[in-house]
Amino acid sequence: MVRVTLEKIRHVYPGNVEAVKDVNITFDITLNSLLGPSGCGKTTLMKIIAGLLNPTEGRVYFDNEDVTSLSPQARNIAMVFQFPIVYDMSVYDNIAFPLMVRKVPTQEIRKKVLEVAGLFGLKNVLTMNAYKLDLSAKQRVAICRALVRNPNVFILDEPFTNIDPESRLALRAKLKEIQRGFNQTMIFVTHDQSEALTLSNMIAIMKDGRILQYATPEEIYENPENTFVAYFIGMPAMNLLSCSLEKGMLKLGELSFDVSNIRNILEPHGSEFIFGIRAEHIELSKVPLSSDEIPMKCVLVENLGPIKVLYLEGNGISLKVKTKVDDIVEGNTVYIKILKNKIRIFKKTGERLV
Ligand SMILES: Nc1ncnc2c1ncn2[C@@H]1O[C@H](COP(=O)(O)OP(=O)(O)O)[C@@H](O)[C@H]1O
Ligand SMILES: [Mg+2]
Repeated sequence: MVRVTLEKIRHVYPGNVEAVKDVNITFDITLNSLLGPSGCGKTTLMKIIAGLLNPTEGRVYFDNEDVTSLSPQARNIAMVFQFPIVYDMSVYDNIAFPLMVRKVPTQEIRKKVLEVAGLFGLKNVLTMNAYKLDLSAKQRVAICRALVRNPNVFILDEPFTNIDPESRLALRAKLKEIQRGFNQTMIFVTHDQSEALTLSNMIAIMKDGRILQYATPEEIYENPENTFVAYFIGMPAMNLLSCSLEKGMLKLGELSFDVSNIRNILEPHGSEFIFGIRAEHIELSKVPLSSDEIPMKCVLVENLGPIKVLYLEGNGISLKVKTKVDDIVEGNTVYIKILKNKIRIFKKTGERLV
């Protein structure tokens, strides 16, 4: 296992498609997710790490070694793709294949194959032709084939996209367990935030050919570095509202917040900002509990089981609030309190300041 460093990576496809713009990142030896919308350059970046694609510019390092000019074989990367790739042979031979090619002794191959096949519930189908398996089982075979050879880096590019939701959950849990056991550098590519949030120890968020943030799921959730990340992560997205700074007071619709303690951080950036607060960082009650609570009108209730998302309007603003209070209906007036230490403030251009 190695740490993978990408330095000033840029990739332009024929036809002048700039798929990767300027990527600088070091993926830790852990379960990493690469999360971003479709078309943002994730697969391109993974192919560059694997050596399947030469970057137009920039260097790739495994630990301190520059591997930019090494072949995929020399890099010893295992890659699993969206569509499972299996060969017309037994499940056993499918999994054993990379070891046979490397002329590993038969006994050792057998031990390894049984070990990984056991992890993925494939022991009873080892003699079956892999073509006969369903999609989920085929993908498990592909994952086993990748795992069996202890690669330097294990890349999974949207591997569960075509797999039914139930198997997907089981496979996620399995992957997590395996990463812990093998201490692998894994990069799990996905466009699904909940998959990234439940699965990984570190998340890299990608947009338009750039990595916007690389941090733990908690950090990304609490302290998104910009409004894209704030909006992309979380259900619902973070509330983001235009606001302005006037003499140490932040004006938000008809509301004012005293932010004189952070005035010196904000003032050099002008007077117009974006105010961010997560839906669960707003306390809500049906009756005013203190004088500083803000009355708002509930215009819509989204029912997520025990949790509700209320769409509130009033005081010149709209907010979504997550609550367990379950007897509020559309048209009710409710009282809210925004948790001050959870307020995030972004520049108009998107970067977070507070
Ligand atoms: N072989 C190619 N030739 C030209 N453009 C490509 C090629 N492969 C991908 N692209 C373009 O590069 C961009 C990034 O693609 P990709 O890396 O596949 O994104 P993702 O995996 O995040 O969906 C897209 O605009 C895509 O259309
Ligand atoms: Mg892709």
